[in-house]
Amino acid sequence: GAVPVICIDGPTASGKGTLGAAVAQALGYHLLDSGALYRLVGLAAERAGLSTASEDLAHPEHGVRMGALAQALQVRFDGDSIWLDGDNVTDALRTEAAGMAASRVSAVPAVRQALLALQHGFARLPGLVADGRDMGTVIFPQAPLKVFLTASAEQRADRRHKQLISKGISATLDSLLADLKARDLRDSTRKDAPLKPAEDAKLLDNSSLDVEQSVAQVLLWWQGTR
Ligand code: C5P
Repeated sequence: GAVPVICIDGPTASGKGTLGAAVAQALGYHLLDSGALYRLVGLAAERAGLSTASEDLAHPEHGVRMGALAQALQVRFDGDSIWLDGDNVTDALRTEAAGMAASRVSAVPAVRQALLALQHGFARLPGLVADGRDMGTVIFPQAPLKVFLTASAEQRADRRHKQLISKGISATLDSLLADLKARDLRDSTRKDAPLKPAEDAKLLDNSSLDVEQSVAQVLLWWQGTR
């Protein structure tokens, strides 16, 4: 399409959100945090009393119910705030529990299918920066720039730890590292849209880069496509 899209995919806590927001800001583009959509489905399910346990999701009829719930999601994005059924759920979405529930429901094909149109709707002029796991491989395969962002698991756990502590949320480094590895494994081994770099993705390891350096690299690549 005519709308330019920059995809930023990568594992949990690789810094996609921070990088995506900074690149969108620099270019004056819209931003899609696709992980928030899966987190919303997990939260909406919890509120509806629908189990997000993997053994329940493995039952086809439960998967269909989860897909229907995702399809009917009543969500509003308002600046940095996200509203679900009229409630501000911005903080609730950022918890580890919400991330783990998101990872479980995101393996359900009917859920991914339900969120497809919603995600395409974010591609509006002057452009979009989309971050997630499958932006470059599934949702925006024609995007002129696809970045796959990585950093070591230890580094990512450490960043997530600092992030949570700064928000006054308590967490131990060990349990965060274990959660993160479990999530990486589930995200990269699921059948539907597994986490992996697109064939034409640019790999960016930000283990020893700060945000400004990462942004500069992405903008340089972006210029190269124009
Ligand atoms: O990026 P974030 O941690 O918010 O994503 C939460 C979960 O949602 C991920 O662990 C992943 O399982 C799922 N997700 C996905 N596809 C995306 C974005 C997120 O499956 N495009």
